[in-house]
Amino acid sequence: MRRFENRVVVVTGAGSGIGRATALRFGAEGGRVVCFDLHEANAESSATEIRAAGGEAFAMVGDVADPGASASVMAAAVARWDRLDVLANVAGIGRFERTSEVTLDGWNRVLAVNLTGTFLFCQQAIPHLLKTNGAIINVASVAGVKSHPYSAAYCASKGGVVLLTKALAVEYARKSLRINCVCPGGIQTPILENFRLPEGVNQAALQRIAPYSRMGTPAEVAGTIAFLASDDAGYINGASIVVDDALSA
Ligand SMILES: NC(=O)c1ccc[n+]([C@@H]2O[C@H](COP(=O)([O-])OP(=O)(O)OC[C@H]3O[C@@H](n4cnc5c(N)ncnc54)[C@H](O)[C@@H]3O)[C@@H](O)[C@H]2O)c1
Repeated sequence: MRRFENRVVVVTGAGSGIGRATALRFGAEGGRVVCFDLHEANAESSATEIRAAGGEAFAMVGDVADPGASASVMAAAVARWDRLDVLANVAGIGRFERTSEVTLDGWNRVLAVNLTGTFLFCQQAIPHLLKTNGAIINVASVAGVKSHPYSAAYCASKGGVVLLTKALAVEYARKSLRINCVCPGGIQTPILENFRLPEGVNQAALQRIAPYSRMGTPAEVAGTIAFLASDDAGYINGASIVVDDALSA
């Protein structure tokens, strides 16, 4: 499939895991991809892989929570390719932590990256996307629709992304712009290294978020993101699609 031929796509968190798989998927389907990430070498590696496969991509480095980053990324995309068609907000952080051990700095950082960063990128992308019948896909989490223990900040941020998505979809519903989010369950990526359990956790509470069969793959989430960005999803707007093998069912 070449559903994104000549379409311009910004992917945040493109250096690893779901973001990397998403950038590669858009690139493989003809998209021109801006690979944005906090980690320069990883962003470069994703862009290089897209180009090596015959696609078009370049890397940009920065922090989604930096208020200036989103404007720079949109400006660079439009300067290079003269349009913007898709924004995939994938960058995110998280960890298991007892609420009694959450610091204000830690709480603020999770909210800043996962929720505020997503908002800032949406805000800067929307004027461009309105010109192209564009689409935004935000990556929330099953933790945004079903409570997870030891995850107060992460759940709050991802629940925020789900409702942010819906609020924007309704606000722009009569315009040519669709805004949806995906809520992955357990996906095998490097982020899981940060989700180490505190000692003496309540195993019964954890059972509620254990996968039924296997972990998902980044490519399985990327495929859903690409579908939501494509014309195949032309009547899907304001949805949160779980990609979780029935975890939240
Ligand atoms: N892996 C899972 O089980 C899972 C489940 C549900 C939701 N998610 C969400 O999926 C998204 C991608 O996670 P992943 O599993 O691929 O993790 P990952 O750690 O492999 O990738 C996250 C990427 O985001 C980048 N990033 C982090 N903070 C950033 C910042 N401030 N600015 C720019 N880039 C930043 C990282 O450098 C990394 O490349 C996250 O939003 C995460 O919350 C993951």
